Amino acid sequence: MRIFIAFFLLLLTMMAAAQRQRTLLDDNWSFAFGHAADPARDFGYGLTALFAKSGRSDSTPLAHKFDDRGWRRLQLPHDWAVELPFVHHPSFDVQSHGYKPVGAWFPETSIGWYRKRFSVPRSDSGQRFELQFDGIFRNAQVWINGFYLGRNESGYLGIQYDVTDYLHYDRDNLITVRVDATQYEGWYYEGAGLYRHVWLQRYADVHIPFGGRFVYHSVAGEQVRTTVATELRNDGFAAQEVSVQSWLVDREGRRVAQSKAQRVRLEARTQRALRQGLTLRRPHLWDLEDPYLYRVVTVVRSGGRTLDSLVARTGIRTLRFDPANGFYLNGRHLKILGTNNHPDHAGLGTALPDYLHYYRVRLLKEMGCNAYRASHGAPNTELLEACDSLGMLVLNEQRLLNSSPEYVDQFTRLIRRDRNHPSVFLWSVGNEEGWIQTQPAGRRIAQSLLALQRQLDPTRTSTYAADLGNVFAGVNEVIPVRSFNYREYAVADYHRDHPQQPLLGTEMGSTVTTRGIYEKDTIRGYVPDQDITFPWWASRAETWWTLAAGNSFWMGGFIWTGFDYRGEPTPYQWPNISSHFGVMDVCGFPKNLYFYYQSWWSSKDVLHLSPHWNWPGREGKPIDVWVNSNADSVALQLNGRSLGTKVMPRNRHLKWTVPYAPGRLEAVGFRNGRRLQSRVETTGAALQLVLSPDRDTVSADGRDIAIFNVTVVDALGRHVPDADQLLRFRVEGDARIIGVGNGDPSSHERDRYDDVIAERRLFNGRAQVIVQAGRRTGPVALTANGAGLLEAKARIVVTQPIHTWGSQE
Ligand code: GAL
Repeated sequence: MRIFIAFFLLLLTMMAAAQRQRTLLDDNWSFAFGHAADPARDFGYGLTALFAKSGRSDSTPLAHKFDDRGWRRLQLPHDWAVELPFVHHPSFDVQSHGYKPVGAWFPETSIGWYRKRFSVPRSDSGQRFELQFDGIFRNAQVWINGFYLGRNESGYLGIQYDVTDYLHYDRDNLITVRVDATQYEGWYYEGAGLYRHVWLQRYADVHIPFGGRFVYHSVAGEQVRTTVATELRNDGFAAQEVSVQSWLVDREGRRVAQSKAQRVRLEARTQRALRQGLTLRRPHLWDLEDPYLYRVVTVVRSGGRTLDSLVARTGIRTLRFDPANGFYLNGRHLKILGTNNHPDHAGLGTALPDYLHYYRVRLLKEMGCNAYRASHGAPNTELLEACDSLGMLVLNEQRLLNSSPEYVDQFTRLIRRDRNHPSVFLWSVGNEEGWIQTQPAGRRIAQSLLALQRQLDPTRTSTYAADLGNVFAGVNEVIPVRSFNYREYAVADYHRDHPQQPLLGTEMGSTVTTRGIYEKDTIRGYVPDQDITFPWWASRAETWWTLAAGNSFWMGGFIWTGFDYRGEPTPYQWPNISSHFGVMDVCGFPKNLYFYYQSWWSSKDVLHLSPHWNWPGREGKPIDVWVNSNADSVALQLNGRSLGTKVMPRNRHLKWTVPYAPGRLEAVGFRNGRRLQSRVETTGAALQLVLSPDRDTVSADGRDIAIFNVTVVDALGRHVPDADQLLRFRVEGDARIIGVGNGDPSSHERDRYDDVIAERRLFNGRAQVIVQAGRRTGPVALTANGAGLLEAKARIVVTQPIHTWGSQE
């Protein structure tokens, strides 16, 4: 049966690929730094009149003749910022961007030039071609074969250019991109360069343009009315009569609903919008624990030929926001248990292989998190696909609160790109716009963006992340869902005064903790790994979550943040280069707060003790022992001696102050009659390295990755919580190490590699190695060594790439 389904899906793909074809252009780019202040070192940019004539074929980097043999060869995605060394610089922006030499202070490392050659077979002439960039940081100018295509300011939203008129067939075509990262868009690490995919999309003259199909569903009882609103464009020079039909396919490959074939005449160089209705009975809904996805197919035919066909995933679900009771998914009440995240991971910066999004979303789900706020700008499409596939809601945010043509265009592109993802449940028109949020200008801009959102996507609504208490002025007067960044104390008053607005916490906590650290260290820039951050910064997890959990008018909230990210080293500065806000560190290793949230957000049994129990020299001194658990009661023992039993207050934690003695600290709890047990022990010296790959197989596509987590244990196999040895890694087989990390927010060690060897220290007993497969199948082994430690070796297998059935949009 499975083989039959696979065959059927393959057939469907081949049918669908009749005209439309999307080719990844990530390989074989050339890269060199230009210069923001010296045209001579910027390949003459500014010295030559680049915009005076079309289609240059001279020796500028835009043209074929230019000799780029001295440039570096690389594969996208590429973030050049993460490759640069850390620099100690007084500027706030440099600090908040993680002390990387990118920005106006560093003209020599803020302009990046990229060149890539590709060819198109002559048999394809007569088709149309579009170059699609998924995201460039930032301010990119793009040329093809010496022809200027345009500029994309946004560092988050990608851009598409029709390049048909400029193509050579059976000969090299040349893409040139000049990326100017001298300006920032945020106040956190943003990376630099072509940090997302680049594609070449092939279409017929008549086709559905990028973002031009909107599929939505309205559920009434057992019946679903699906609307497929399609824009159809004829870019050719002759009118065409076409028929358009759409249908829904379930996971078994069955066609479960279809529209009538609709005939349309498209004059040359025009666009039409059509709307088709499909009816489906007894739908399988998309939900968090069962993220069921259908596929929607739209086929455009003419005279028996398929001109275009578009296949993408779609999920059927209902959303309801209620001011008194919060949020409902498919009619079921759901508290928003969210995290904010920047797309930044250990070792790699913002250039994330697709699989890493799935890895991170899975980690968040294991904690009990059900919603992701893409702070503060257009997320990677692969992140949304991971959320669609794994069942995670997404709050999707516009970078700036502005209704100028540039930002109306950005919001339009964001909505058109992302409105088909079932995971997206809410839009945000902006975040903490302190200059205008309480002003009439803020209100008017929000109104303009809200009107645009309703026009492009009437199925959802919007919020705005306000750092305001009980304030009803400006944006808050018009925003459909009122959101709070912090100021949890004001939510009840606001609800009392404005009972008609649903209320959400868009940023909560900002509780700073460093994994495995139990003493504030202002020299190295570490904060204790417990929920005690107040009054240094923002609030404690327990402060906001007890309020959110206890009041039905709180829709829930998003922790700032799920993962640590580079930049914003609050409350410190250099040598601290990375944030501490995460409930997980930048590798995804849990901090103690993770277990607080997991206790109250997940249905898992949780019983977690902290700190570790290695405190030589502290014998007899008091140590605060924290218990994070959802047990009904917990009993604690030290070396077999009872320290008492306590009832676990809901949404809180327990604490014992225990005079330290080495040995075994043990907790036993009962949850609904089930016995839970947990312990921490004084360990011996670190002895044996342990490597844990997160998966056994990866695809031989040159892009797929495996994440190897590294720990170290003593002679009795117990994790050594304070080990910090320098480790060396070596990979064998067709693979390379692309990044290493350890979660130390003050580490200045190298992150990014492209090699078979790498090194990194352990930080409080953990490190991470990211290995990328090559294109040959076979075994791959990673070895870890450290002075005085027994070597660890772990194997995975690189297998034939599996045919994936993603979206074509
Ligand atoms: C908020 C801001 C976030 C982050 C956070 C740190 O004000 O929206 O981007 O900077 O503070 O606490």
